[in-house]
Amino acid sequence: MITLAKRLNVVEEYYFSSKLREVRQLASEGKPIINMGIGSPDLKPSQAVIDAVVNAMQDENAHQYQSYQGLPELRKGMADFYQNNYGVALDPAVEILPLIGSKEGIMHISMAFLNEGDHVLIPNPGYPTYTSVTNLVGAVPVYYDLKEANNWEPDFDALEKLDLSKVKIMWLGYPHMPTGARGSLELFAKLVAFAKKHNILLINDNPYSFVLNDKPMSLLQVEGAKDVALELNSLSKTFNMAGWRVGMVLGSAALIDAVLKVKSNMDSGMFYGIQKGAVTALNSDKSWFEDMNKIYRKRRVLTEQLAEKLGCKVYKEGVGLFVWAKLPEGIESSEDFIDKILYEKSIFITPGTIFGNNGEGYIRFALCVKEEKVQEAIDRF
Ligand SMILES: Cc1ncc(COP(=O)(O)O)c(C=O)c1O
Repeated sequence: MITLAKRLNVVEEYYFSSKLREVRQLASEGKPIINMGIGSPDLKPSQAVIDAVVNAMQDENAHQYQSYQGLPELRKGMADFYQNNYGVALDPAVEILPLIGSKEGIMHISMAFLNEGDHVLIPNPGYPTYTSVTNLVGAVPVYYDLKEANNWEPDFDALEKLDLSKVKIMWLGYPHMPTGARGSLELFAKLVAFAKKHNILLINDNPYSFVLNDKPMSLLQVEGAKDVALELNSLSKTFNMAGWRVGMVLGSAALIDAVLKVKSNMDSGMFYGIQKGAVTALNSDKSWFEDMNKIYRKRRVLTEQLAEKLGCKVYKEGVGLFVWAKLPEGIESSEDFIDKILYEKSIFITPGTIFGNNGEGYIRFALCVKEEKVQEAIDRF
């Protein structure tokens, strides 16, 4: 009898991993599934990016192990991307670490900074991986509420009332997933001050700042943020490269070095061709974002119509890749609501509850579905 590690008692299979299996099963039975669940861009990267990876295949060393810190030109591309889009200066030699996906970075960071029993502040609602990784490393999730009444931003009075003595890390992410709340530089400044006061490592998870958002922001824009903060960013949504697995973590040399210590013991570098493609993507000009956003804007209009047809109230201020909507009055369970739609109309929408109990009463639509399909979903009601 092979026994499992104790850490497996504290995590469950990722919601999408099991739910998408069910959705695939329904599709294989012939159901005309429209999947508005997961935020995996259906659009392609630019042709230049695809050409870069194809051409890279013939380069000398293309198939060898790569540097643990990524190609210098990749780190330079990331530094330029931060300078040009957020006005943040980073030293590509020591303040940037390319990641094989930013989700993976959540584990690297947690392994680098958390001991068993440390507490971790996690937004509710928020990305479920913060909780599962915290549990996997034996630390303790402590949730902080985000509420619609407070525009999905933390309540600092409530934060100060928590027992912060064991808190080591605070996760946040603006633009916020799943709600789409934008955040602001004032909010970031308050968070940096809070983190400094309580000696907490603050990490902004920032994969959505270029989708339907005219003001991309970085936590690192706040003066002095690097003393206590890291930022994760990702090419997944910005450049339609989710399956490529390219992300980055940015911050002071000391913090980045700690993450590298973990990461260099876990992988042996990112595939060369992917790095070359990523360099090309990072050098895209502004028209790339405009072209993508034209498509997403049309999809958003239709998706809002769908949500409203279902009697839901859309969070109109939301930015990013999702539409976040409140269930009709009198309907309480997000999971029952989405299951009924899945089984009766073959449309898969994400229940807000997978992001925490403050997501109860809400649902999330991804904008990764072509306009015709969103229209078809509308027509099914
Ligand atoms: C808030 C948030 N953080 C991180 C990720 C992971 O992105 P990546 O593809 O870079 O691992 C996602 C992906 O859905 C996300 O929604």
